[in-house]
Amino acid sequence: MEQANIDKTKNQPNIVETKFAQISRVPNTKSGGPAFETMKAKILDRSANIGIIGLGYVGLPLAVTFNEAGYKVYGFEKSQEKADFLNDGVSYIQDVPTSRVKLFVNSKKLSASTDFSALKNCDVVIICVPTPLAKSQDPDLSYIVAATESVAGNIKAGQLIVLESTTYPGTTREVMLPYLEAGVQKLTGKAGKCGEDFFLTFSPERVDPGNGKFNTFNTPKVVGGATDACGDLGALLYSQILQKVIRVSSPETAEMVKILENTYRAVNIGLVNEIAIICEKLGLDVWEVIEAAATKPFGFMPFYPGPGLGGHCIPIDPSYLSWKMRSLNYQTRFIELATSINRSMPAFCVDKVATALNMDRKSLNGSKVLVMGAAYKKDIDDMRESPSIDIIHNLQQRGAEVDYYDPFVPEVNYDGIDMKSVGWSDDLGSKYDCVVISTDHTNVNYRALFLSSARIVDTRNALKDFKSDKIVKL
Ligand SMILES: NC(=O)c1ccc[n+]([C@@H]2O[C@H](COP(=O)([O-])OP(=O)(O)OC[C@H]3O[C@@H](n4cnc5c(N)ncnc54)[C@H](O)[C@@H]3O)[C@@H](O)[C@H]2O)c1
Repeated sequence: MEQANIDKTKNQPNIVETKFAQISRVPNTKSGGPAFETMKAKILDRSANIGIIGLGYVGLPLAVTFNEAGYKVYGFEKSQEKADFLNDGVSYIQDVPTSRVKLFVNSKKLSASTDFSALKNCDVVIICVPTPLAKSQDPDLSYIVAATESVAGNIKAGQLIVLESTTYPGTTREVMLPYLEAGVQKLTGKAGKCGEDFFLTFSPERVDPGNGKFNTFNTPKVVGGATDACGDLGALLYSQILQKVIRVSSPETAEMVKILENTYRAVNIGLVNEIAIICEKLGLDVWEVIEAAATKPFGFMPFYPGPGLGGHCIPIDPSYLSWKMRSLNYQTRFIELATSINRSMPAFCVDKVATALNMDRKSLNGSKVLVMGAAYKKDIDDMRESPSIDIIHNLQQRGAEVDYYDPFVPEVNYDGIDMKSVGWSDDLGSKYDCVVISTDHTNVNYRALFLSSARIVDTRNALKDFKSDKIVKL
């Protein structure tokens, strides 16, 4: 990660670099007491030990970013396997090179454990655990609750606790705060006051795995504290490790900011997926329409259709808001409509495969189909919620013989699918009746795929440079 021209080992460099003016009021804050001043000093002189609970796609990049700024990081993981990898100096996250992990593990600045008692050594604890949906499509907060219980059971006076996991507005204050207050009460024998005895902040993670341009350091960070002092310390902390901090008035606002960002994407992708369905009925090329519309220099932002939503965020987070609003007797109509359209896309794409095979007087039942890409988006190895999985299921249910190829995902053992990627050869397409491109990884020889295939359903416009009747576009 490029972090040129900021020497993070010096005190306060990022306060200068950070463009958010309110941070400058930290030294004059009236809201803090002795614990506030101690924490402020520790953050500034890098003696604050940072604990990170959950070392996945969010937690591990964050851990090494703190290391790079000069902090010591204790990682806490549920998975013994991940803790062992990390302690051996090996990265299991694509965006974090092993060399970075090894460097900090060898210099004893980074370690991981499944034993949470060392949380007592941490001045700051950042929670980066999953926030999935339960089978009922309701939020599953069990990971946040388990992590908060671990913090509360090992709380240290004056600790700053930050939640980064995406969740509905109210989680930090309504769900976490009572556990932490009880933890302080148990520790000190008197009621613990948030903003004085400990500090609580929500700061959503915005990392975009596989994005070569924006990383933890140069993606602005939104911070909202349960009190002014909590927000001040949260903003101060992040201003030490990244370029820009956006301070908002409360954790609820910060929680809503993240849900708005992801709902905005989900709804706009839902809209453009419906436009793709409309264009098919009108005999138009939706990709041409979008590219032309995107030439408007104001008032239009292009979103692109595809085989459906994937990943741990966009398909899930809006449902957190829907659930919250149902509890307030309000129906989130945009979210529900977009979800319904987005969820219909894998089946729509499989119908395209059936139509493509029909052109060759073949039926889906019995045909050999190659699915290009198992990851939910290009150039990453994450297949959580990947529409490719739905496409494979749907093709198999309709009697097709299915293989997949993905240079990033050598095997899939997920959601009832247990498959290995076929190997690449320049004549790969010739082995199948139809190829369906569901993930447009960059490092694929699309020319060879195009030349060798009899029929291709392209759900990502990966073959935009090739013109042929054998290509069926979304
Ligand atoms: N992946 C992304 O692109 C992304 C982007 C922005 C926000 N987020 C949000 O960040 C949060 C984390 O996502 P992620 O992608 O890093 O998930 P992940 O599954 O990659 O990592 C979470 C880690 O937490 C560990 N864990 C679970 N419960 C634990 C516990 N009680 N104690 C310790 N460790 C525990 C898991 O073993 C796992 O390694 C989610 O709320 C997600 O919505 C993710």
